[in-house]
Amino acid sequence: MGDSKLILCCFIACILFLGVNGENPYRYITWKVTYGDIYPLGVKQQGILINGQFPGPHIDAVTNDNLIISVYNYLNEPFLISWNGVQQRRNSWQDGVSGTNCPIRPGKNFTYVLQVKDQIGSFYYFPSLLFHKAAGGYGAIRIWSRPKIPVPFPSPAGDFTVLAGDWYKTNHYVLRRLLDSGHNLPFPDGLLINGRGWNGYTFTVDPGRTYRFRVSNVGLTTSINFRIQGHKLKLIEVEGSHTLQNTYTSFDIHLGQSCSFLVTADQIPQDYYVVASTRFTRRVLTTTAVLHYSNSKRGVSGPVPGAPTIQIAPSVMQARSIRWNLTASGPRPNPQGSYHYGLITPSRTIMLSNSAPYINGKQRYAVNGVSYVPADTPLKIADYFKIPGVFNLGSIPTWPPSGNNAYFQTSVMAANFREYVEIVFQNWEDTVQSWHIDGYSFFVVGMNGGQWTPASRSSYNLRDTVARCTTQVYPRSWTAIYMALDNVGMWNIRSENWARQYLGQQFYLRVYSPANSWRDELPIPKNALLCGRARGRHTRPF
Ligand SMILES: *[C@@H]1O[C@H](CO)[C@@H](O)[C@H](O)[C@H]1NC(C)=O
Ligand SMILES: *[C@@H]1O[C@H](CO)[C@@H](O)[C@H](O)[C@H]1NC(C)=O
Repeated sequence: MGDSKLILCCFIACILFLGVNGENPYRYITWKVTYGDIYPLGVKQQGILINGQFPGPHIDAVTNDNLIISVYNYLNEPFLISWNGVQQRRNSWQDGVSGTNCPIRPGKNFTYVLQVKDQIGSFYYFPSLLFHKAAGGYGAIRIWSRPKIPVPFPSPAGDFTVLAGDWYKTNHYVLRRLLDSGHNLPFPDGLLINGRGWNGYTFTVDPGRTYRFRVSNVGLTTSINFRIQGHKLKLIEVEGSHTLQNTYTSFDIHLGQSCSFLVTADQIPQDYYVVASTRFTRRVLTTTAVLHYSNSKRGVSGPVPGAPTIQIAPSVMQARSIRWNLTASGPRPNPQGSYHYGLITPSRTIMLSNSAPYINGKQRYAVNGVSYVPADTPLKIADYFKIPGVFNLGSIPTWPPSGNNAYFQTSVMAANFREYVEIVFQNWEDTVQSWHIDGYSFFVVGMNGGQWTPASRSSYNLRDTVARCTTQVYPRSWTAIYMALDNVGMWNIRSENWARQYLGQQFYLRVYSPANSWRDELPIPKNALLCGRARGRHTRPF
């Protein structure tokens, strides 16, 4: 074999082993994760910083870019970062949740290799283990369209990230201990916008120009409402779907959700409140940031504009008004509507019902009567090495059982590659739920009060609902989604309410292809961390 051939072979092998696409740009990112003092609500607390920042640095990527992210863990606890909404096609190896990855131990590092394949839109990353999210460690992910792909609005004069959500002054390990001992979290202490409290953050705009605001609810326990005093919000994007451009005076964003608005600085030049407040809570927490006109002659003034608080009906109506723009392009040049999700008949229906049982006298949360407990070995890794006894397929029923008994289990649901499924989230509790599915984007075909029945299908929007990765379920209501299982892997389905997730309202969906082909799923990364019962194994047979 000639030298050049050898080099070519090595090159190809490299591409295959790294599991990334050689034609698309690489972005190299290095993150140091440390503790640091932060004062978001005026009192000092221990935060989790990324490269010294809270919130962490943005990730900016263009559709199909490869991201090589080296994470150095300087905490004294195991750590993982997960990517909320990044689909990681064929690559659940990089998902960064306890069911897919061994933790990065204190003082160690790990390099994530992922591709933002066929995606655009606004998402975020967050620390997934040990309730670290309560200490920060999160940041925005923006996936921009490729230069030649039309975007259905003029290029904005600026692009702002708004990471908003509830916050506790209490250390994450104190909150964790509370949950571990079977108690609920107290009501949050406040809300933050970009890591700051009341008027702590300023967005500066030039008069007459239009800006994009990408808003994510990165909180732990509550839905929020977002609004800007005196300004209209024109919705343009929801978790990677371009929407019909409806305008709103205020907008509900549930836990884990992201969306983008265009806002035109068309009011008299002064400063205005940018507001986030809690939704569906009896006590309402509010925080503000500042929209500052560059020629402003006056600081923020007047009352902070109000919004719905406990009312559910307006939120449901608003949710139904979010529509796909069928003629706009998404990540590819063809129109979004060329995928006719509503014309495909699902092969089966899965119903997922949340509950809040007490097990052994402790508060837990469950899905279909099963409260998830992490295994000693990541499920994905155990699956690869065929290590028995870590989990069993079918350890969670695909339909809520009758009766209220709940039990602990490392729950994994089996599904076949290329199945098209209908999933109904049925909520009999009095609180709003927010459900997220890793590795996928799904169509929210319907939501309504009461019990879902097959007759509920007559109310589905089979034409122009959006594809997204996180959906709310209103109290004593259901939400139905359609999802094409086109991504092989071990994928986390979870509550985005972080106390519920931590106490068991989650499980894994194992999407399996018998072909065992690298076309369907990338091979285990060479650098995969091995722990638990996989310790001492090898990621390569040679
Ligand atoms: C990151 O960790 C790997 C394996 O644990 C190690 O080989 C490598 O040297 C580390 N990188 C740096 C720059 O410390
Ligand atoms: C939908 O997208 C098209 C194509 O980009 C655009 O011309 C149109 O204004 C959009 N429609 C709405 C209602 O937002």
